[in-house]
Amino acid sequence: MPDKKRVTLDSELVEFAIQAQKRALAIYSNFPVGAALRTRDGKIYQAGNIESSSYSLTLCAERVALFKALSEGERQFDTIAVAASTDEMCTPCGACRQVLWDYAPDLQVILVNRHGETHKVALADLLPEAFDKRLLK
Ligand code: THU
Repeated sequence: MPDKKRVTLDSELVEFAIQAQKRALAIYSNFPVGAALRTRDGKIYQAGNIESSSYSLTLCAERVALFKALSEGERQFDTIAVAASTDEMCTPCGACRQVLWDYAPDLQVILVNRHGETHKVALADLLPEAFDKRLLK
């Protein structure tokens, strides 16, 4: 596998999320979402949402990006950018917040709307008092 491009600027990460949105498979909802997840050493994993005819099997862009990265051996994450074609910022669903928390509790989340405006928020602020492995002892 060729070396992945390394990116440090948030503005570039946002561009990667917008690019990934164009490849989303939102064939039932017509609501494409793009995500770009940056590892701590600057590697980027892009994804769009992938929908199924059995609707509940759909995966959000955020989880596809995280699972791509995890399955390639990545464990340290820095920021995820999430782009949707909404006027408001589209925030990650509850399921994605949980899975992101499980693997990247220090993650920063950059929300991107259809105008290219952004808002950065800590995952910890999106999922206060989270359930996690601490409780599974
Ligand atoms: N979706 C995402 O991919 N990420 C989000 O943050 C919100 C929702 C997807 C799931 C589904 O394919 C479509 O958007 C409509 O819910």
